[in-house]
Amino acid sequence: MRKIYLVFTLFACAVLFLSNTKDAKFVTNLFLLGGENDPVLPEVPYDYAGISFPEHLVDTPYGRNDTTAFDNLSNEAATLGRVLFYDELLSANENLSCATCHEQHLSFADDTPFSAGVSEDTERNSMQLNDLGWTNNIAFFWDLSHGNLEEMIALPLENPNEIGVTDMSTLLVKMKETSYYPDLFEEAYGNSEISLEKIQNAIGHFIRSMVTFDSRMDQFGRGEVVFTASELSGMELFAVDCQVCHLDGRHEIFEFLDYPEVIEFFPELYSNELEEEEDPGAGVWSPELMGSFKSPTLRNIEKTAPYMHDGRFETLRDVIDHYSDDIEESEWGMIPEGGFNYSEKQREDLEAFLLTLTDKSFLTEIRWSDPFTRTVSNSGLEEEIYSTEVFPNPSNGLTYINFENINQRQVMAYLMTMDGKVVRKLSTHKNGFVTDVSQLPVGMYVVRIKNGEDFIDKKLIVQK
Ligand code: HEC
Ligand code: HEC
Repeated sequence: MRKIYLVFTLFACAVLFLSNTKDAKFVTNLFLLGGENDPVLPEVPYDYAGISFPEHLVDTPYGRNDTTAFDNLSNEAATLGRVLFYDELLSANENLSCATCHEQHLSFADDTPFSAGVSEDTERNSMQLNDLGWTNNIAFFWDLSHGNLEEMIALPLENPNEIGVTDMSTLLVKMKETSYYPDLFEEAYGNSEISLEKIQNAIGHFIRSMVTFDSRMDQFGRGEVVFTASELSGMELFAVDCQVCHLDGRHEIFEFLDYPEVIEFFPELYSNELEEEEDPGAGVWSPELMGSFKSPTLRNIEKTAPYMHDGRFETLRDVIDHYSDDIEESEWGMIPEGGFNYSEKQREDLEAFLLTLTDKSFLTEIRWSDPFTRTVSNSGLEEEIYSTEVFPNPSNGLTYINFENINQRQVMAYLMTMDGKVVRKLSTHKNGFVTDVSQLPVGMYVVRIKNGEDFIDKKLIVQK
């Protein structure tokens, strides 16, 4: 009896021991394999679906705005879309993601005329992605060549110079082996099977959820702020001279037309008479539309310089000067020959109005931010200051920034918002800092460890 008992105990211990080591291994594996490369996600998904379309935008002089893009948004699919959008694992060399050319603090545009792709610069200026669910969602890309968001999302994925997925089945296997994708697909679609179709769909949810409804213009529309005299004059000028082409939204007047008839029906809305045009634009798919281009939404336009499909204008003032002075011939007559001939004051007013279209909160809003907290470094600093860790992350109180400072050099740590504003400055010769973040607004921050020009960046999420 006692013998059996002993055997049983031994057996039980062995099982316990085995399962313990298994757990322990699992934990170290996670730490080594995933760890830093896993996305940091909230326990309850952020709210992507609860978009209430502002009253003041529903009715326009051209009919009602179409808001059906928001009807079936899913928080789980958008969460998966967020991870896919930022995940470098998807790219051929695992060094680039959608966000490489579509940066949140620039309203998901880029700040160079042409973005650096896998092997060469892109042929056109990267486009902002804010408000694609409801503004100018009739056609995508500068050349208006695609009428369906999901379909077009496959293009940058498979474009050898963008994400460059050449072998979808290898990618799907790679994704299946991560610690996070099977669960994320399960939560979004009820099963963990990964497919291109679901990838397109999830990124579509994420992009459609990106709205800028808290610009100064929206606050004005809701009666929360009063416009200055200059902003008001600018708005009136814009309504007369610009709005016809910069409609912002798929209004009822378009409803009886499908893509691409809608463009062929109103070709005059797709050309602003730029000089020295080499790019055929929509001419690539329809000869009558030679030189026609999409006019992206002007929401957050302040952040998306340089401007036009080739990034030829550096500032909004350059754009206004173009419409005012540089229209030599006017093919369709929507812009008068010779241009609008604005006075200095009119130029200032127009610019003041365009600046009211910026929604600053959009540029740092956590639900559209990078969930990966990988280290970015510009130099050899990592050889002296290494193993930098920020924890807990996300944090809502005391936060430890630890590293190995082997030569006990003086290092500075800056806590910065995603658009580079320093909110806290610390200095040490030791192996780290501790700082209390409970008083900081919720959001994504960068912890920059700095010595001279050299730095190491880590992301920190502040939560309540
Ligand atoms: C190498 C830079 C680069 C990468 C990477 C990239 N894009 Fe783009 N994106 C561009 C450029 C450039 C354009 C404009 C292309 C054109 O019109 O010919 C664009 C256009 C777009 C548009 C059209 C917007 C509109 O208003 O019509 C969407 C949507 C978009 N990209 C989404 C994505 C997604 C999703 C990914 C990741 C799967 C991605 N992009 C990856 C550079 C990039
Ligand atoms: C006839 C139609 C039309 C009119 C009128 C018009 N635009 Fe445009 N706008 C366009 C088109 C088309 C583009 C994109 C052109 C390109 O890149 O080739 C554009 C681009 C822009 C851009 C740059 C967008 C970006 O993301 O790079 C700004 C800013 C702009 N317009 C402001 C204005 C202002 C201000 C007015 C009034 C003074 C105005 N537009 C009048 C059609 C028009």
